[in-house]
Amino acid sequence: MDTQHKIKILILDDEKQFTEELYEFFQNSGFEAFEANTANGSKKILKKHEIDLMILDVRLPGVNGLDILKEVKIQFPLMEVIIVSAHGDMDTVIKAMRNGAFDYLRKPFRHIDIQIAIERTQKYILMQRKLKRMEEKNSLISKNLEKQIDRQFIGVSPQIMEVLEQALTAANYPDANVLITGESGTGKENIARIIHYSGTKKNNIFCAVNSSAITESLLESEFFGHKKGSFTGAIVDKMGFFEVCNQGTLFLDEIADMPLNLQAKILRATEEKVITRVGDTNTIHTDFRIISATNYDIEKCVEKKKFRLDLFHRLNTLHIHIPSLRERPEDIKPLLIHFVDYFATRFKKPNIRITKEVFDILEKYDFPGNVRELRNMTERAIILCKSNLLGINDFHVKLQKISSSDNLVKSFNLKVHEIKLISDALKSAQYNQQVAANTLGITRDALHRKMKKYNISINKGVEV
Ligand SMILES: Nc1ncnc2c1ncn2[C@@H]1O[C@H](COP(=O)(O)OP(=O)(O)OP(=O)(O)O)[C@@H](O)[C@H]1O
Ligand SMILES: [Mg+2]
Repeated sequence: MDTQHKIKILILDDEKQFTEELYEFFQNSGFEAFEANTANGSKKILKKHEIDLMILDVRLPGVNGLDILKEVKIQFPLMEVIIVSAHGDMDTVIKAMRNGAFDYLRKPFRHIDIQIAIERTQKYILMQRKLKRMEEKNSLISKNLEKQIDRQFIGVSPQIMEVLEQALTAANYPDANVLITGESGTGKENIARIIHYSGTKKNNIFCAVNSSAITESLLESEFFGHKKGSFTGAIVDKMGFFEVCNQGTLFLDEIADMPLNLQAKILRATEEKVITRVGDTNTIHTDFRIISATNYDIEKCVEKKKFRLDLFHRLNTLHIHIPSLRERPEDIKPLLIHFVDYFATRFKKPNIRITKEVFDILEKYDFPGNVRELRNMTERAIILCKSNLLGINDFHVKLQKISSSDNLVKSFNLKVHEIKLISDALKSAQYNQQVAANTLGITRDALHRKMKKYNISINKGVEV
C-alpha cells in the first residue's frame, strides 16, 4: 500500500438503492468504490481487492453485522470499518466500536455526514501508511528476519549500522564465538538473535540463558545435564543447555556473573566439544557456538581475577560493542516513532501524534536504561495519555538527566566524535560533500574515505 493510490471503499448494505447512491457519491468524490448487497458478495470483493474502508450496515437480513465486523477485522486488520446503524440502536454502536469499528453513521444521514466521517478515516489511513513507510525505512533488517528474531531493529546512526554490519559478518562465521558488550538495554540480545538467524544454522536451536537467574547449585546440571538419581530431585535423565544447543547457538547473557568453577568447566566444554552429564561417566559429543553478552567491563573482571582470562579469549573470537543510546542520539527519533506506532496499535489508540518538544527533549536526555528505557517510557505514555497528542509531560524523564550542552562532551571516544562531527558537518552543509569537507578542514577525498570507513551515507536523515 502506498500513499498515492486512491482509497478503496466497499459499501455493504441490503438496500440496493442505498449502495448505488453511495457508490455514485464516492466515485464522484475521487475514491474507488465497490458495492455489495449480501455478505457473500462482499466476501468476493474483499478477496479480490485491497479495500481500505468498509461501510457496513449492521442490520443485514439473516446475518449479524457485528459478526461480519469481527471477521473482517481479523482477516483484514488494516482495513477500517464505518458502521451504519438505525436510529436508537446505540447498544449495537457501542459493541461495534469495541470490536474495532472506526466510526458510525445513523440512518438516515446526509452526504455531508458521510463526507466528514470519510475525511477523518482517510486522514487516519494515510497516517498509517506513512508510519508503515517510515517504519520500513528505518528498520535495518528485513521483515522476514524481524519475524524470525521476534524483535525489530531500528536505527539510522552510522554507529548502529556498523554494529549491524559486524553482526552480519559474524553470521558468516558460524563456528566463531562472539562477545557482545554494551550497557543494559542497548539491544545485545537483538544482535545475538540477528547473528544466529542470519547464518547457516538458523534452522537449528537458539537458546538464551541468563546464568545470573539460575540458582548456583543448579547451574552445573542446567548446563551439562544430569543422570537420573545423581542428586535429590534428579528424577529423570536430563539434557543440559550444551547438549540441547548441538549444531545451534547458546546465548549466554550476563557471563560476567558466572561462578569461577563453572567457568573452568565451560572452557573445557567449548574446547573439547564433549561434555559429561552430572552423575554420569559417559561423554557426549556436542558442537555449539557461544554468543555471550555482558554489560560489565569484562576486562576489568579479568584483571580482578573474577573472570578467567583463558575463557575470555575463548569467547571473544569476535567482539561487537553496542554504543549507548546517548552516544547515538540520531536513533532516538526513529525509535520513538517506532515505539509510539507499535504501542498505539497494540493499545488501539489511533491517530496519536508526538509534539516537537518531545523529540527535542528526549534527544538531549541521557537514557541510562538505553533503548529499553525509551521503549518502557513510550509504553507508559501511550497507556496513560488522555489526548491523542503526546507531550513531554506524558514521558517520565528525570529532568536532571537532561544536559543542555552536548552529551558527547562526556565521551572521550575519538571515533564517536569523528562520526558525529562528520554527520553534523554533512547535515549543516545540506549534504554537499565539498562544503562539508571545507567546514571540516579536510579534502573532499579525505571526507569520502572517512564516510566510507564509518559507513556514513548522505541519505540517512529522518523526516517526519
Ligand atoms: N535498535 C533497536 N530497535 C528496536 N528495538 C530495540 C533496539 N535495541 C533494543 N531494542 C529493544 O530494547 C529492549 C532491550 O533490548 P535487549 O534485551 O536486547 O537489551 P540488552 O542489551 O540485552 O539488555 P541487558 O543487558 O539488560 O540484558 C528490547 O525490547 C529490544 O527489543
Ligand atoms: Mg539482555
